[in-house]
Amino acid sequence: MNHTLAVGIHDLSFATSHYQMNHSELARKYGVDLDKYRIGIGQSSMSVTAADEDIVTMAAEAAKPIVDRHGAADIRTVLLATETGVDQAKSAGVYVHSLLGLPSSARVVELKQACYGATAALQFAAALVHREPSQRVLVIATDIAKYELGSPGEATQGAAAAAMLVSADPAILRIESPSGLFAADIMDFWRPNYRSTALVDGKTSITAYLQAVEGAWKDYVEQGGRPAAEFSAFCYHQPFTKMASKAHRHLAECSNLDGAAHEILGAVHNTTIYNRSIGNSYTASLYLGLASLLDHSRDLADQHIALFSYGSGSVAEFFGATVVPGYGAQLRTAAHRRAIERRTPIDYAHYRALHERTIPVDGGDYELPEEGSGPYRLAAVSGHKRIYEPRMPRR
Ligand code: CAA
Repeated sequence: MNHTLAVGIHDLSFATSHYQMNHSELARKYGVDLDKYRIGIGQSSMSVTAADEDIVTMAAEAAKPIVDRHGAADIRTVLLATETGVDQAKSAGVYVHSLLGLPSSARVVELKQACYGATAALQFAAALVHREPSQRVLVIATDIAKYELGSPGEATQGAAAAAMLVSADPAILRIESPSGLFAADIMDFWRPNYRSTALVDGKTSITAYLQAVEGAWKDYVEQGGRPAAEFSAFCYHQPFTKMASKAHRHLAECSNLDGAAHEILGAVHNTTIYNRSIGNSYTASLYLGLASLLDHSRDLADQHIALFSYGSGSVAEFFGATVVPGYGAQLRTAAHRRAIERRTPIDYAHYRALHERTIPVDGGDYELPEEGSGPYRLAAVSGHKRIYEPRMPRR
């Protein structure tokens, strides 16, 4: 392996759902003070998928601009991370590979470890590129965060996909060694195969997340990582944006960082802007945080950024990255803002109907209503098969 070769994120793009619901709808429905959501957990709205959207359509939508810009020829691997998979056997990445018209000379696989899966994919992609620097790897994180109606988790739902092109000599971010790692067998958040909504022990999950921050940071230090003070921003997995502040306060306690409130806010604020209105997107959440940081910060060239990935159950990783000079030319700030702003607001009743919708499981032929606005749609299910297609322009 060539250790002097720079490998990292060459392009980054995300997509979210057709609908959004403002937290004022939830506050009204449950008689909760809106500030609990806006300030207490740091969320203003959540992305809600339309009937003809799922993790595959969002993933393909996120990755399409990357393929349009760079071409498909060098992409020999697609790694798709999700914890809301649509099939127990077939990788959702194979549908995405087909929708995007990627070359048949490719390996395609799905990875799972709760919200951590995309970071595993990113690190595996970097290793593949180190071995074969001419190849590029498409990493996609795509998820729909769904909890039971009326449960405390309901306010932390959301949906999005983030796509990254990993290459040698990247234009946006060089990924650094070492990584700090942490794993612990804990039941803080999980979803048995027979359930469409996740189960969570909210308070335990927050404690488990903070223990993982500490564990991964300690390992990072032991592996010879940078002093915390060298990082100019900290990107955390954000199940809700307030979690980034809680995580950073805890890191400050474990390291030599200043834990004053304004320092905490300054370190994480720019990473939270997209997540605040999209909600949790599980595997994609950390990378939406990264996109938010890059899109909203003044020149970060040559700055070191820390990333912390947490997947309940649990696995965590803390790693550093350095922003490449000239990165601004690669950013997709306008498209990202459009993806958020173009969502159609819905009320609680509409959201509830979508939440309760299920895809028929009897193997019959069902067409799905044309609802979404993205470039791909889940058109039908037939004989237990999902049928995806490009969306035809509406007349
Ligand atoms: N004004 C301002 N703040 C208010 C307020 C008001 N009127 N009312 C309440 N608050 C504050 C509370 O003081 C509390 O703040 P702190 O956390 O700083 O103490 C905050 O709002 C939340 O209030 P509660 O703790 O009472 O909220 P809750 O019990 O209803 O649920 C939750 C919060 C546990 C996060 C719940 O939404 C949940 O279970 N979410 C899903 C699990 C989750 O996201 N866990 C995170 C770690 S696990 C992970 O990261 C993996 C993953 O993606 C799931």
